[in-house]
Amino acid sequence: MTISCIPASDALGAVISDVDLAKTLDSETVGALQKIWAENLVMIFRGQSLSDDDLIRFSSHFGECEKAPIGDSVLEQDIPPEITVVSNVMEDGKPIGFLGTGELTWHTDMSYIPEPSDASGLYAIEVADGPGGETSFLNMYSAYDTLPADLLAKIEDRTANHDSSYTSAGTLRTGLAEVTDVSKAPGARHRLLRTHPVTGRTALYLGRRPNSYILDLSVPDSESLLDEVWSHTTQDKFVYTHRWEKGDLVFWDNRCVMHRREPFDAGERRIMHRTQLKGAAPFYRA
Ligand SMILES: [Fe+2]
Repeated sequence: MTISCIPASDALGAVISDVDLAKTLDSETVGALQKIWAENLVMIFRGQSLSDDDLIRFSSHFGECEKAPIGDSVLEQDIPPEITVVSNVMEDGKPIGFLGTGELTWHTDMSYIPEPSDASGLYAIEVADGPGGETSFLNMYSAYDTLPADLLAKIEDRTANHDSSYTSAGTLRTGLAEVTDVSKAPGARHRLLRTHPVTGRTALYLGRRPNSYILDLSVPDSESLLDEVWSHTTQDKFVYTHRWEKGDLVFWDNRCVMHRREPFDAGERRIMHRTQLKGAAPFYRA
């Protein structure tokens, strides 16, 4: 099978055509996609028609699908445990999925746990008609590669705490207390610079800005250094923004990509199915 691939933007992302992900892929195709993914960080497939099993089978070529407990805040549905529903749609008085309609600020999925997901796939089943709901992706290799020398010197040996108290929608997670001192926030600690295990390249790893804290600094010093790093990182030149269409599958690498979502109108319906992966499968090596 010949795969066609064009850049989605100058920053990152590849739009891949001539591949039907509802079919079983041969090993040559999988290898080609792994290479495209390592080089472009985000894969975008348009016009797909996928069942949950198709999505899980495709995702499994890039890692091991994690099972996501749904908790009792969303409607129980007959879907495989590897699938998380991201949606604002209500049924029987309960949301069928997570994350509502609001803005989701820049983040890396699950960075507040010790071993975050390596990759995420998001498949659009229903999308908003109007503007809104776009997802932006940011190239964290480029953010690292362009760090001014003085800023690099200030962060290269530093570790940050990634607060686990709030979601990227700003909602306090069940059972957790409001953060009043970022140096005491719960969460997981990660180095600000991390080496990608497949590409060997260094990427900035920031998680979320709210309640982040750089260890061994005073809170004011941590805040000002984080502001400096975030201001450098969130430049438009590192960003690709995806306008969703039904049938899109977007697949990104959390080890070198941050993402955010625009809010959308509460009167719209948006249903996405997501997979989250750990990199346990055999990978393309750069
Ligand atoms: Fe996310």
